[in-house]
Amino acid sequence: IKLAVIFGGKSSEYSVSLHSAESLLAHCDQNKYELILIGITEAGKWLHYPKLDFEAVAHDTWHLDADCREVVLSPSSSRGLLEIDETGFKKLPVDVIFPCLHGPNGEDGTIQGLFELASIPYVGCGPLASACGMDKEFTHILCENAGIACAPYLCVYKDNALDLKAIYNQAFNKLGLPMFIKPANAGSSYGISKINSEEEFIKGMEFAFNYDCKVLVEAAIDGFEIGCAVLGNHELIVGECDEIDTKNSFFDFAAKYALENTQIHCPARISKALSDEAKQIAKKAYRTLNCSGMCRVDMFINSRQKIIFNEVNTIPGFTATSRYPSMMKAAGIGFGELIDRLVQLALE
Ligand code: DAL
Ligand code: MG
Repeated sequence: IKLAVIFGGKSSEYSVSLHSAESLLAHCDQNKYELILIGITEAGKWLHYPKLDFEAVAHDTWHLDADCREVVLSPSSSRGLLEIDETGFKKLPVDVIFPCLHGPNGEDGTIQGLFELASIPYVGCGPLASACGMDKEFTHILCENAGIACAPYLCVYKDNALDLKAIYNQAFNKLGLPMFIKPANAGSSYGISKINSEEEFIKGMEFAFNYDCKVLVEAAIDGFEIGCAVLGNHELIVGECDEIDTKNSFFDFAAKYALENTQIHCPARISKALSDEAKQIAKKAYRTLNCSGMCRVDMFINSRQKIIFNEVNTIPGFTATSRYPSMMKAAGIGFGELIDRLVQLALE
């Protein structure tokens, strides 16, 4: 199977994607897959990286390689990419694409729309689920509508955010303190702040608007975070739930990728009843958002042992410390088998 793994991308999660790609590529069985590495630079240029040097991918030196060739994917390139060389275009046939991209332009349905137009099967959610899952406001609206408990929130657009003090008062009256400010479309905790005062609120809003012109202000949940991995199209397999045990003020970037003051327990140290309920909620969110292939559903367990939905990640991290592959492994599906299943689901 000619498997094109696309990594990098025009997104704040560019580097995270490189690390995901390194571990994903290292776990692909090269007897089964002919790997085609396609990197998208931070500026948005698509390059075919013809070597299988996964470390160069992780270290972000891949695009400096003299053998890199620019490629394009167009609706008329019929089941492949087009590599641009001295003589014009050379066809690079592809059977399936694994978009190993996180955040805007990769996880938000844009590139999935391009794969649809080009009629190339791809791993993971389609354009609609990807777009709804990327945008935290739409995720909330749809999940709340399906009866899934979510944190109370306010949505603020940059254009309407001239008087941040007035917005703080409104948020404080509805949500209390502490609260979280989150860009509506971002991942890996980029742009997120925990807020304990009006001053922090004003700084937090300005910070979040660097990432998106739409921002969610959410009530903080007094409890801890758990996650659940879901895999499948028609029949769903759920992984074990995991649990984030962090001493940082929240599961921020350093906690996620350097495990700073943080341990991830998989399976989560929760009762079977609670874990079963979390798995049901994860499947419900998956169906509600019209997901296919895979998704990681993040939730909280509050101090009254109630599960509150947080968000979904339609292309969850695949780094060495990442949660989705660990949750699947705990359920008996190792990394290599996980890739095989994802590719088969893409080809269904
Ligand atoms: N957005 C990161 C990659 C995650 O959810 O794992
Ligand atoms: Mg996320």
